[in-house]
Amino acid sequence: MLLLANAEAWPGFSTTVDRLRAGQGSLDAMVEGIGLVEREEKVRSVGYGGWPNMLGIMEFDAAVMDGTTREVGSVGAVPDTVPVARLALEVMRRLPHVMLTGEGARRFATEIGMPLDTTLLEDSRRVWWERLERELSPDELARFPDVPLAPLSRTITDPERVRDTTVFLSADPAAGIHAATSTSGWAWKYPGRLGDSPIPGAGFYADSRYGAAACTHTGEMTMRCGTARSIVLAMRLGHSLHDAVRLAVEDLAELREGFLAGVVIHAVDAHGGHEVVNFRCEGEIRYWFWTDGMAEPELRPATVF
Ligand code: GLY
Repeated sequence: MLLLANAEAWPGFSTTVDRLRAGQGSLDAMVEGIGLVEREEKVRSVGYGGWPNMLGIMEFDAAVMDGTTREVGSVGAVPDTVPVARLALEVMRRLPHVMLTGEGARRFATEIGMPLDTTLLEDSRRVWWERLERELSPDELARFPDVPLAPLSRTITDPERVRDTTVFLSADPAAGIHAATSTSGWAWKYPGRLGDSPIPGAGFYADSRYGAAACTHTGEMTMRCGTARSIVLAMRLGHSLHDAVRLAVEDLAELREGFLAGVVIHAVDAHGGHEVVNFRCEGEIRYWFWTDGMAEPELRPATVF
């Protein structure tokens, strides 16, 4: 058994390890761990600690994928709901659909007993409003939110508050290979914006025969390249995990137009291998790793591509 997650998974990684050791199903174990990340206010990219959209509303994206059946459950732009990866798992288990968005996802949450929550922290609300005060004129602020938001979407990008995500991947010869993701998405995003975290093939993909991949940071790039699916498909076509990730990074590097920034790829294969690669993200990127025989999970540095 192997478990991989990005550095922001610290509040829940050990719990997932404990659940896997105890024989719990991989997706339930990962969703329980991500739920702890979503509840941790210090993690500023997911759940209660996340950042709102331009209107000051929290909209969450999350997904799960069972790599053995290739079933997926996904929710996008669902307002004020924690635990949201749990909601994605319930979409997979209870509905004939793969993905719910917005008010439909929120309605489904209510139907299965997940209450509407207050997920915008007072501190996040203050930072969001201060940002708007820097971007809008006094007249626009007085009329807010009845102002065009599209011009803001190009200027309000905040390098301090990036498009991070929590991703978990598990791999086991008997239990299969699975993925889970959760995020509040791009800080100050246009309302309704989906990142890659709920998009199968872009932000995550798992196939127990070959491997899995999950991405953090700039979903606007991995959605254009189908990054996670391309890695698993390359392994299916006979490439090693290392070469599959390299091909995906080269494809991202070919992008010339549109919004371009960094991406981190987390990937595993069906032979116990793993790779975590930092493509153009500033600062040191680290990830959590645990496999059978390790007493404790380790925080390791990603490879810089
Ligand atoms: N990778 C997360 C996002 O783009 O929202």
